[in-house]
Amino acid sequence: MQQKKILLNDSEMPTQWYNVLPDIPNGVAPPLDPGTKQPMGPEKLAPIFPMGLLEQEMSDQSWIDIPEEVQEVLRIWRPSPVVRATALEAALGTKSKIYFKNEGVSPAGSHKTNSAVAQAYYNKREGVKRLSTETGAGQWGSALAFATHKFGLECKVYMVRVSFDQKPYRKSMMNTYGAEIVASPSPDTSFGRKILEDMSGTAGSLGIAISEAIEDAASRDDTKYALGSVLNHVILHQSIIGLEAKKQMEKAGDYPDILIGCCGGGSNFAGLMNPFLRDKLEGKDIRFIGVEPTSCPTLTKGLYAYDYGDVARQTPLLYMYTLGHDFIPPGIHAGGLRYHGMSPIVSALVREKLLEPVSVHQLECFEAGKLFAQTEGIIPAPETCHAIRTTIIEATRDLNKPQTILFNFSGHGLLDLSSYDKFYSGDLHNYDFPAEDIAEATKNLPKI
Ligand SMILES: Cc1ncc(COP(=O)(O)O)c(C=O)c1O
Repeated sequence: MQQKKILLNDSEMPTQWYNVLPDIPNGVAPPLDPGTKQPMGPEKLAPIFPMGLLEQEMSDQSWIDIPEEVQEVLRIWRPSPVVRATALEAALGTKSKIYFKNEGVSPAGSHKTNSAVAQAYYNKREGVKRLSTETGAGQWGSALAFATHKFGLECKVYMVRVSFDQKPYRKSMMNTYGAEIVASPSPDTSFGRKILEDMSGTAGSLGIAISEAIEDAASRDDTKYALGSVLNHVILHQSIIGLEAKKQMEKAGDYPDILIGCCGGGSNFAGLMNPFLRDKLEGKDIRFIGVEPTSCPTLTKGLYAYDYGDVARQTPLLYMYTLGHDFIPPGIHAGGLRYHGMSPIVSALVREKLLEPVSVHQLECFEAGKLFAQTEGIIPAPETCHAIRTTIIEATRDLNKPQTILFNFSGHGLLDLSSYDKFYSGDLHNYDFPAEDIAEATKNLPKI
């Protein structure tokens, strides 16, 4: 009998995170102070992040202990399963083996909870009372709403307008966990009010919502800010995905030829991929493929440059692939992939040609998600559909050359069904971001 689910016991959950920073060839450039344009030390960021997370952000230690209190909450759903997608393989007629790491089993429905729990813990430990954050698809906001409640903190979520309208039940979920939520741009911050005045009717963007959440944190003594992707400490927390998956593949007696994940800010795929990086650097033949939408092609068409993480230019300058901080992507239905920048870690892996970026259209992604649901039973988040689409391409590329593929199932789509409805009714369209528009969007990059 073919083993379908490869499970770990609670006691096999990793007790340390893996920090990839010391292993990246030629390193990751430091963040710069937006004022002086000089490398920025942790003290400058202390007003918005707790020291525990800032130490992780700049750590040169390869392994960092996961605090007991964090492990206890993670054990609610971790270790998450690796599943062999046998029914999808059969439907494709491929001899390739397809495995997926199911991060959709978390309380909020995605990998985001892995970092939310850790971030809430370190803030609580340092006496913070309230966290502010942004959310695109609503997955991060739900994850932080759950995690802050677990550690007795208040939470305010700025949700990108287009997702707020598309996903009303995400709001109900955040309310259930006790968070306060508002559509961004909002009248609650001076930056939000300015955008509402200048660009009335805008769909919003993650860059705008981040500016609002940072302003919120900077203007109150009891509040700090939490970011759901991009930063090194978030990617550290997500390494638990790949650490578990490596053990599970070993249990299955297999090793992947290809790892695949979708890339918004880069955290879920880096979480799966990073623990395999040392093997690749030591000569193991393994490909890493990061997938983004053609409508927000940060890695495949963006510039590699220092840029702000938000529209109001309040964040440190990060060295990353970017479409420009004032880029507002079209309102596609994978809200979590609508970000102008990319994690500096993922960007450096692309620069070193260790990670291959590809882009796919949203319609073929929904088609892939539908096939996955009909075969494996789980309805994927629109973001996750990007990884599934690329998995299907790789598994059927050469039917005589079977591959072992492991992709990250970053989240379920049970609160994204309105997007599926739009797909079925023919209201969704593909969108290629035109080269002229990218040139326009990147012309305001800071001069370094
Ligand atoms: C289900 C899901 N997958 C992927 C992403 C993309 O983010 P990241 O690249 O940080 O994993 C998101 C972001 O909201 C998400 O909700």
